[in-house]
Amino acid sequence: MTVKISVLVSGRGTNLQSVIDAIECGEIQNAEITCVVSDKEEAFALKRAEKHGITGIFVNPAEFSSRQEYDDKLLEILKEKETDLVLLAGYLRIISASLIDAYKNRIINIHPSLLPSFKGLNAQKQAIDYGVKFTGCTVHFVEPDLDAGPIIMQKIIPVLENDTADTLAERLLVEENKAYREVVKLFVDGKLEVDGRSVKIKK
Ligand code: GRF
Repeated sequence: MTVKISVLVSGRGTNLQSVIDAIECGEIQNAEITCVVSDKEEAFALKRAEKHGITGIFVNPAEFSSRQEYDDKLLEILKEKETDLVLLAGYLRIISASLIDAYKNRIINIHPSLLPSFKGLNAQKQAIDYGVKFTGCTVHFVEPDLDAGPIIMQKIIPVLENDTADTLAERLLVEENKAYREVVKLFVDGKLEVDGRSVKIKK
């Protein structure tokens, strides 16, 4: 069976690219990205999708009067594409509870900090400002509370003395791109087992 993946994006899409590459080179098998949906028309992630023959859809927030209506439209698209797994890859909108309910434990996000530290925007700058010596990225299932769902995988890097938010973000991105494809492979291979807050990886 092929796992059908939809990816929600807002920006440059390096995490999307990593998953595309992993599928194309056979590292992830039995999976297909059936659409990439963006809330920003100019998102470079849409160009990446196009280049790989993947349907890209811009859903314009300005055409909807509420987040609920916007997410109802997303849900319609996800269903139409027979989506099994939703990936948030640099998607900047908060997702409504109804969408999360419809895809319980089937929506995954990547966040550039070691959660539960530094939730929300500019996580790398938050880490620098706080003065932590290590930070990392977290791949987790999405729950209604922001950046709070069960953690699937974390990768850790040191914060260097002369790091800025930008240099830290750049080094972190390398780990993010690895973590995301690894987690998608585990999901597709049916290896993730959620037990309350704990996610176990089956052998
Ligand atoms: C990444 O840092 C990710 O952790 C965060 O947004 C950024 C998206 O980068 N959620 P990209 O669009 O995947 O390159």
